[in-house]
This record gives sequence, C-alpha cells and structure tokens, in this order.
Amino acid sequence: MRVAFIGLGRRSTGHLRRVHAMEGVEIVGVCDLLSDLAETRAKEFGSRAFTDARTMLAQTDAEAAIVTLPPFAHGDAEDACLEAKVPFLLEKPVHLDISAARRIADRVAAQGLVTSVGYQERYLDIVERLEEAVRGRRVGVVFGHWMGGSPGGWWVRRDRSGGQAVEQTTHVFDLARHLFGPARRVFASGVRGILPPDGGRDIEDASAATIEFANGVVAVITSACYLQVRELVPAGLEVFCQDANIRYVRRRSLTVATASGSETWTVANDSETAMLADFLHAARAGDPKAVRCSYTAGVEAVELSLAVNRALETGAPVSLPL
Ligand SMILES: NC(=O)c1ccc[n+]([C@@H]2O[C@H](COP(=O)([O-])OP(=O)(O)OC[C@H]3O[C@@H](n4cnc5c(N)ncnc54)[C@H](O)[C@@H]3O)[C@@H](O)[C@H]2O)c1
Repeated sequence: MRVAFIGLGRRSTGHLRRVHAMEGVEIVGVCDLLSDLAETRAKEFGSRAFTDARTMLAQTDAEAAIVTLPPFAHGDAEDACLEAKVPFLLEKPVHLDISAARRIADRVAAQGLVTSVGYQERYLDIVERLEEAVRGRRVGVVFGHWMGGSPGGWWVRRDRSGGQAVEQTTHVFDLARHLFGPARRVFASGVRGILPPDGGRDIEDASAATIEFANGVVAVITSACYLQVRELVPAGLEVFCQDANIRYVRRRSLTVATASGSETWTVANDSETAMLADFLHAARAGDPKAVRCSYTAGVEAVELSLAVNRALETGAPVSLPL
C-alpha cells in the first residue's frame, strides 16, 4: 500500500514510525511547507520530499494519505485528496468552520471516499468496555475533564487552534457524543487572565461546559490549560448510572463500580496503531464504514466543541445543530 504524509510536525512522528513498521506499506511521499523538514523525513523513511500536497499525490500514485496539519490549515489538503480520490486520515479537529467541514463531509459522502479522523481513543480496549458498560444503563449525569498545562505556538491562539475546547477537550466531547448521541443545548463559562497574553494568547485558561444531550443525559465537561502541576489533574469521563458508577481515566483505565463490587481494567492495546491499521485496511477494501471515526463523525465531534466556543463567546445557551 502506497501511503503519503501531509504535515510533518510533532503529531506525524508517531504515525510515520508506526506506518513505516507495518508490513506491505510503503511511505511514497512526505510533504511539509518546510522543505528541510520534508527532506529530513524523506531520508529517514526512504521516501520522496514535497512541499505541495497536490504535486505529491499526482507524482506518487498514493493510495492513502495521512494528514497532520494544524487546525487553521485544514481544508485544502482534504480538497486535494478528494480531487485525487485518495482516502485520508485527518487529525482532529476536522475544521474550525462548521460550514466548511459540512461541505467537505458532503463531498466525502458523494464520492464514498474512505476517511478517518484521529480520535484514537475510540480504538482503546477500555473504551470498548466503556461502551459496553454504558449500553442499556440509565445514565443521569456525566463529569468530563481535561485539566493540564498549555503548549505554546499556534495552540494559544483562538484563530489558529480554536482553543482548548476545540483542539484538546474535543477528545472528551467526542467520547460523550459517541456514547450519548447528539446534544441539543450547550451552556459554558470561561476563565481568562491567569496566564499572560504571551505569543498572542487569547484563549480561555479554563472553562466549564454543561451539555444537554437529546436523550436526556446532562454532562459537565471542564477544561484547564493553566496548571503547572502533574498530580491530581483529572482527564477522562465519569458516568453516573442508576446502578453503576463508571470512571474512565484518559488512556489509562476503566473502573465499573456496582452494588456488588468494582472492577478495573488498564489499557492493554496501542490505539494509535489500531487506528492507523484500521484506516489502511478500510482504504484498501474501499469500505468507508470500516473505521470507528469517519470524517462525518469527526464533524459531529467538532460541532460540539464549536458550540462550546460559541457559548463562551456569547455567554448565552447555544442550541444544536449549529
Ligand atoms: N489525536 C491526538 O491525540 C493529537 C495529538 C497531537 C496533535 N494532534 C493534532 O495534529 C495536528 C497537527 O499538530 P502538530 O502538533 O503536529 O502541529 P505542528 O505545528 O507540530 O506541525 C504541523 C506541521 O504542518 C506543517 N504545515 C502547516 N501548513 C501546511 C500546509 N499547508 N502544507 C504542508 N504542511 C503544512 C508545518 O510546517 C508543521 O511542520 C493538529 O490538528 C493537532 O490538533 C492530535
């Protein structure tokens, strides 16, 4: 299978290493605006360097593309893949503009193109157990969190990353959307001014979103990116069911407590490899349904993140769909 990479920054390194180690897969092209970086990665992985995605797709006959561009740069690479009819795996969040994301989703659907979005948590063995544990149970409220520190660069600028709700806590929103279905209303409040506006920082330092799902479940999901400690910083989801308390600790463990006791499982699989292998398998088979998070599902996840942003901006409740 001939695979090409678009965007060669931090996120691409693990994907390159994992795909390179797969049998029957060749990395036929690597593309980044930074030509030196593209040359370095091309040498490392026995590939060809490009600075333009369209040229690469045309000259390499790629059969699949892995796109790890920053959120503000999303759109054109997807168009290039659609024009070349090349299945693509795109890193989350799919887009900062919901209308543009929907237009891409429509084209993907019209072509029947295989796509995948980098919500790798869906491939965790403990998330499969979480799905099972929630299924059939009466859920009331849910707490979700992503509490941590702040990277620099484009991440701290709302017009570049979308802010933490869109770039990072979107993993938690995706999981909640995946488990409880569509949301009907979002409320949110934010905290600013804890960290200085260095590097054009204009994102919330923290926020709390209350989400009403159409099925009646209510979730409170908090985000923080001002913390300088590594202890007691929760990330994950706690689901309070009538007959069970379920605690998912992000990418680590799952505990299900019932009246008869509790059981804990820790992660035993590599969700990143599972996601990449699943995508390449689906691309080879030409089966858009053979992935756990398609472009359309990625749009549903980012819609919730963008609704939180709108509620933060307006201070008013936001009804969905956007
Ligand atoms: N799923 C996850 O857990 C996870 C983790 C980290 C990052 N991400 C996502 O991965 C994406 C990339 O993040 P990153 O940390 O690698 O960013 P990065 O800034 O480290 O790298 C991005 C690279 O893209 C290149 N680039 C920008 N515009 C381009 C264009 N038009 N054509 C070609 N190259 C271009 C830049 O030169 C840079 O090398 C983001 O959407 C981020 O949200 C996902």
